[in-house]
Amino acid sequence: MSDRYLVTGAAGFVGSTICRRLAAAGIETVGVDCFTDYYDTTQKKDNLATIAGGSFRFVEADLTATDLPALLEGVTHVVHQAGQPGVRSSWGEEFAVYTRNNVELTQRLLEVARASDTLQRFVYASSSSVYGDAERYPTLETDLPRPVSPYGVTKLAAEHLCTLYASNFGVPTVSLRYFTVYGPRQRPDMAFTRFVRAGLLGEPINVFGTGEQVRDFTYVDDIVEANLLAADRPSPPGTVLNISGGSSVSLNEALAVLERVVGRELRIVRHDRTAGDVFRTGGDASRAAEVLGWRPAVTLEEGLAAQAEWMRGVLGTS
Ligand SMILES: NC(=O)c1ccc[n+]([C@@H]2O[C@H](COP(=O)([O-])OP(=O)(O)OC[C@H]3O[C@@H](n4cnc5c(N)ncnc54)[C@H](O)[C@@H]3O)[C@@H](O)[C@H]2O)c1
Repeated sequence: MSDRYLVTGAAGFVGSTICRRLAAAGIETVGVDCFTDYYDTTQKKDNLATIAGGSFRFVEADLTATDLPALLEGVTHVVHQAGQPGVRSSWGEEFAVYTRNNVELTQRLLEVARASDTLQRFVYASSSSVYGDAERYPTLETDLPRPVSPYGVTKLAAEHLCTLYASNFGVPTVSLRYFTVYGPRQRPDMAFTRFVRAGLLGEPINVFGTGEQVRDFTYVDDIVEANLLAADRPSPPGTVLNISGGSSVSLNEALAVLERVVGRELRIVRHDRTAGDVFRTGGDASRAAEVLGWRPAVTLEEGLAAQAEWMRGVLGTS
């Protein structure tokens, strides 16, 4: 049987980058998205427009409501990226959107995956936000996850569902805990998009907290590679892996790199820390190296240069 991929969240930042790579390889792929309004849908439509090739087909559908058995018919690999992202907006009334698009959606997909006789792998986009303020750095997959945001709670709940469906029904799940993804087409609410844009335009850059908060930044092509390896390489059902850039740097250090990349002094304005923001993330990715043979390949300087190049195109300044 030939491979047939289903990529959920195909119009999003990570999902569209995965689809572009699959389309370039001529792999039969169905991409699904419903263009949620978490950010400007024009960007999502632009993301989709960059996916070329006859092997790619797009279906506009809300995965919490659509006929999933029909969608998963003949599918060999599910690469599940759809979800409601963002830590800050996950408090308050918006939480219902998080439970629906992160938890209920994943449960619906798993139910159908459970009944499938063609499915070989179910890759789930989990998050470093499951760790919260972790007990140690670099954090291991076996360390106790204790999210500090409602968003993190929903990402962990969905990950637990993947593990449950694996242990009870043998659904071949692999959960990848992404650590801060960046690169071209990054979501507009994420720090680097705002920083790169402001840096190129000479506008003020708003930094929340002291800037000493440490992140393990991971370039989007490295994330794509991890997904494709997870889809392809054998791993025990229920596997959970850190996918982390390997270079923990503080926000202030990242801004210094950005200053070199954009070639001008940045105008930084500091604000108070926001509730739900963790002080540090840093993952030990040795298990991903062992199980998948995955290692991050792109340095922060190279990745930020690629993101700035893309942003110049968006701003029409290239
Ligand atoms: N970007 C990061 O740094 C990061 C870090 C850790 C985990 N993740 C996870 O990776 C995944 C992709 O993140 P992203 O940054 O590309 O986000 P994104 O918002 O750009 O992409 C998610 C896509 O899912 C779609 N979607 C949401 N609910 C849907 C539904 N009910 N039906 C159909 N489509 C739906 C949205 O319209 C969006 O296009 C998410 O699950 C996110 O939680 C991202």
